[in-house]
Amino acid sequence: MIEEEKNNIDLKNKLKKVLDEGCGSYSSLDQNYHEYFNNFKETGYKKAKTVISQIESLRKDFDWSNYVYLSIGGAEGSELEYVLNNTEIAAAVMLEKDSYACDIAKKEIKNNNFFVVQGDAYTKINEVNQLITKIHSEKKIDGVVISIQAVLHELPKRSVEQFKWPVFFDNLFGRWKNKVFVSREPVVPFNWPEKLRLSVYNIDSLLLERFGRLVKDRLKMSHNEFIELSGEKYVCVSKKLAVEILHKIFYIDDFCYEIEEQLTELEPDFLMQLLSKYFSYNNLFEMRLNSSSFNTKYKEFNISALDEQGFELPIPLVFWSVSGEVREVKNG
Ligand SMILES: C[S@@+](CC[C@H](N)C(=O)[O-])C[C@H]1O[C@@H](n2cnc3c(N)ncnc32)[C@H](O)[C@@H]1O
Repeated sequence: MIEEEKNNIDLKNKLKKVLDEGCGSYSSLDQNYHEYFNNFKETGYKKAKTVISQIESLRKDFDWSNYVYLSIGGAEGSELEYVLNNTEIAAAVMLEKDSYACDIAKKEIKNNNFFVVQGDAYTKINEVNQLITKIHSEKKIDGVVISIQAVLHELPKRSVEQFKWPVFFDNLFGRWKNKVFVSREPVVPFNWPEKLRLSVYNIDSLLLERFGRLVKDRLKMSHNEFIELSGEKYVCVSKKLAVEILHKIFYIDDFCYEIEEQLTELEPDFLMQLLSKYFSYNNLFEMRLNSSSFNTKYKEFNISALDEQGFELPIPLVFWSVSGEVREVKNG
């Protein structure tokens, strides 16, 4: 059997399984979830390398030794481990909600300048600020690098009910005079039209449409999102829902974890406006891009997306990267 046909059948069976069986008694504490965190190591190192090069392109003579590196939602800590081992960073602090991930980090990263605070980013940020202030005064330094990778999009749903961006950002950025912020998050792409036709492998549109409706219901997406049959292999679908379907299909083996989060909710323009309060627009750089794994999977899964005239659309840019820096110049 040729490879493509085999993958097609594999995916069909996985989609059917999810549709027929749902997530049953799945809980975030089951085995899949543990594996999910164990798989983060390589991606953590990769992210750290990207963050380091982003920071060094903001400032060539960046003095790492003047900074504490704060990672919010750093999972099992591999991003911080890489930064501690490959830069002159003074210390690294991780604020992470998941206790299992925190335990791995504490076990694996043996470094006196590594600190883990377990808990919710919104509620624990002031405790973390106190810890950073203490490190600053002990080491006679004053800088903070704040790295948030693939976490902001989860916060409103995985934090406190009364989560408010302005309050969170005030607590996160407000008190530091020398700060760098680097983040990359999934967003809704701007290079796709509001409505399009989508096909995945050669999967029957009936199956794709059922899966799309499941994704829409489970994510409690708005009534404006829609999906309907458009011939044997295509569905006609709204942009946000189309992108959610792709993300969920690309990680179909982790469906029960992935379906707990929506990846198209962040509004980069709104966040840029809020960020400009702390960094000013002149000190902020944003970019729309893709991860290499999204590009690879888009090709592997033989995705076809057509506009209303039937022309093939480009790969959607489903990530947003932002970086910013403020440095207080000392007199004398
Ligand atoms: C998609 S993972 C990203 C992990 C890592 N930053 C990366 O880029 O590979 C999201 C992480 O954010 C954490 N997280 C989610 N909500 C959080 C919250 N309210 N406070 C702190 N961490 C949170 C999760 O436990 C998870 O480790």
